[in-house]
Amino acid sequence: MKITWLSHSCFEIVESTTVLVDPYIRDNPTAPKPVEEFNPDIIAVTHGHGDHLGDAEDIGRRTGSPVLAVSEVARYLAGRGVRAEGMNIGGSFREGDVLFTMTPAVHSSDITLTDPPTPGGEAAGFIIDDGIRIYHAGDTALFGDMRLIGEIYRPEVALLPIGGRYTMGPREAAVAASWIRPHLVIPMHYNTWPQIKQDPAEFRNLVETLCDSEVVIMEAGDALEC
Ligand code: NI
Ligand code: MN
Repeated sequence: MKITWLSHSCFEIVESTTVLVDPYIRDNPTAPKPVEEFNPDIIAVTHGHGDHLGDAEDIGRRTGSPVLAVSEVARYLAGRGVRAEGMNIGGSFREGDVLFTMTPAVHSSDITLTDPPTPGGEAAGFIIDDGIRIYHAGDTALFGDMRLIGEIYRPEVALLPIGGRYTMGPREAAVAASWIRPHLVIPMHYNTWPQIKQDPAEFRNLVETLCDSEVVIMEAGDALEC
């Protein structure tokens, strides 16, 4: 499996299919490549905020690939002519050999790409299982049921926001890692803008004091084989 970090919360996960999560590209000052170069088989969106829903509509329309999102966001996309698959927290969706399970997130979710914003249902995360199980936490606070996510799904890789202000910061995300206990933790949702400036090395040090998970600090565009 190849996991590529496209900065912010955007990851491309390639195994049996190419999964693109939270494609925030065009308006993202740290995106490493243009939106036209993405050709996913499926797009997964954690919530309606513009830095997550991002370019899902454009990529979905161009490729014809489905966009997987919470029902309200999926309905919004379907209304704009995009092939969308709605689901909800606790449920699973299969696309080929990949199983997506939607997990809770403690966050808000309106669709900020419309003026005025459109209600976007609940914010979420995903367990993406394509042989290796990845937990993409979306935007979230630390919450106690992350222990259950670790216990039930046993993700090998956790993608955790560390930017603070809008999500967990390094201190909370390190506790999350210690509860989830993945082999690898990749920090995300930081250093995209000044408001979420963080030192990922600080996060790594905190995780190392709490558990055995290995923190992989990526540069935008970096890929990891696992
Ligand atoms: Ni958000
Ligand atoms: Mn966000």
